[in-house]
Amino acid sequence: MSTREVLRMGDARLLRRAEEVRLFDTPELHALLADMRDTMHALDGVGLAAPQIGVNLRVIIFEVAGNPRYPDAESVPQTVLIDPVITPLSDAMDEGWEGCLSVPGMRGLVPRYTHLRYQGRDEYGAIIDRTVSGFHARVVQHEFDHLDGILYPMRIRNMKDFGFSDVLFPDAEVRDE
Ligand code: NI
Repeated sequence: MSTREVLRMGDARLLRRAEEVRLFDTPELHALLADMRDTMHALDGVGLAAPQIGVNLRVIIFEVAGNPRYPDAESVPQTVLIDPVITPLSDAMDEGWEGCLSVPGMRGLVPRYTHLRYQGRDEYGAIIDRTVSGFHARVVQHEFDHLDGILYPMRIRNMKDFGFSDVLFPDAEVRDE
C-alpha cells in the first residue's frame, strides 16, 4: 500500500476513456484499491477514480463520513464500484459545488441528476445495485465522469461559477484538494 501521485488537469491521461476490468479478486486489483484508498484518505477526498493515479481502468471508490472538505454533506457508505453503469431516474438536475483532487484549490458549480440508479461490481465481483439521490448521486456522477475523461469544469454552465476555494468560501475551512 502506498500513496500515489494524483494527476492534475492538463494531463492527457485524465482525458481517456478507461477500460473495463472484467477480472475480479486479483492481487493486482486489490493492490490498486489499497493505493487508491491510501491516496484518497491522505488527501481528504470523498472519491477517487483509477485514472486519476494513471491507471486506465473503470474503477472508482468513494466514501463520505465527516469529511472536513464537505462538512455538511450527508454520509455515503464506503464503496468500491467497478465497471459502473449509471441510469438517471428522472430529468431533474440540481446544481452543487464540487472540487476534485485533480483540480486542486478550485470549486465549481456543477449540474447533476438528482436521482439515479447505479450498477456495477465490487472488487470480488459481487453485484452492486443502488438507487440514490442528493450528494451520493452527485459523487457517483463526478467519479463516473473520470472514467470517460470528463473533469467537472467541463460541466460548469457559467464560468462565473468557477474559482478558487478560499476566495469563493473565505469563511469556510476549505482545504486544498
Ligand atoms: Ni474528481
